[in-house]
Amino acid sequence: MIQPLVIANWKMNGSYAANYNLLTYLLPEIAVNRLARIGLCPAYPYLAQVGQRLVGSPVWLGAQNASAYSEGAHTGEVNVAMLRELGCEYVLVGHSERRLMHGEDDTAVAAKFAAVEAAGISPILCVGENLAECEAGETETVITRQVMAVIDQVGIDHFFNAVIAYEPGWANGTGQIASSEHVQYVHGLIRRLLRDRDPYIARELQLIYGGSVNPTNAIALFQQPDVNGALVGGASLDARAFIAICDALEQAHRHALAQGA
Ligand code: 13P
Repeated sequence: MIQPLVIANWKMNGSYAANYNLLTYLLPEIAVNRLARIGLCPAYPYLAQVGQRLVGSPVWLGAQNASAYSEGAHTGEVNVAMLRELGCEYVLVGHSERRLMHGEDDTAVAAKFAAVEAAGISPILCVGENLAECEAGETETVITRQVMAVIDQVGIDHFFNAVIAYEPGWANGTGQIASSEHVQYVHGLIRRLLRDRDPYIARELQLIYGGSVNPTNAIALFQQPDVNGALVGGASLDARAFIAICDALEQAHRHALAQGA
C-alpha cells in the first residue's frame, strides 16, 4: 500500500523565532514513529535552521521552488545542488501560486521537475485548475495538459521518485476546499494518465491534495482511495492543526489496511 504523506508548505511565512517555537511544539509529536512520511517546506532563508532541527529525526526537509538552471548568472535563483547541500529531499514544482503569480508555464515547470529529479530530490509536481477554468468546466483538460506536459518533456521513468499534488488554485488559502468526491475524481484521472504510460508508477506514486486542508475536512478527504496525503499551507503554521491532520491521515490509512485495501 502507498505510504501516506503530509507536506507542510509554510509559504512566505516564518522568522527564526516563529520557526523555533513552531518546531518546539511540532517535533515531539511528528518526529516519532509514524506511519506517514512528513515533510516541512520552509522559505529558503530558513532551510538551514529547520534542517538542523530535523537532523536525526524522521521528518524530511523540502523547498518550495528551485531553479531549472544549474549555476551562473541567474540573480535571485537557487539551484538544486544548493538545495541538496542543505539536505532537501523534496521540492515543490509548479505550485499554483508560482503558475498564477510568477508566470511559470508547463515548459518551465517541466524543466524544473527535470532538474530536481536529476539531483536525486523528489519533485512534488503541483497541478490544478484556476477558478475561471473550474467554472468553465475545464478541470479535466487542464489537469491532463499539465501532467502530460511534464511526462512528455521529461519521460515517465523520471516519475519513479516523484509525488503529484492536486491543488486547485481556487482552493489555496481561500478556506474553500474542493469536495472529497471532486478530489477523488481528479486523483483518479491522474492515476489513469500515469497508468497509460507505466502501470507500476501509477500504482506506487503518492497523490496528495492541497487547498484549505484543515483537521475537520481532512477526515473525509483521506477516506478517498486515491488520496494518499496532503499538501498543507495555512494549517501547517499551527502545530496543533498540523498534528491533527497527520493523525487523521494515519487513522484513515490504518482503517484502509484493516479493510485489506
Ligand atoms: P492552504 O492550505 O493555505 O489553502 O494552502 C494550500 C497550498 O497552497 C499548499 O501548498
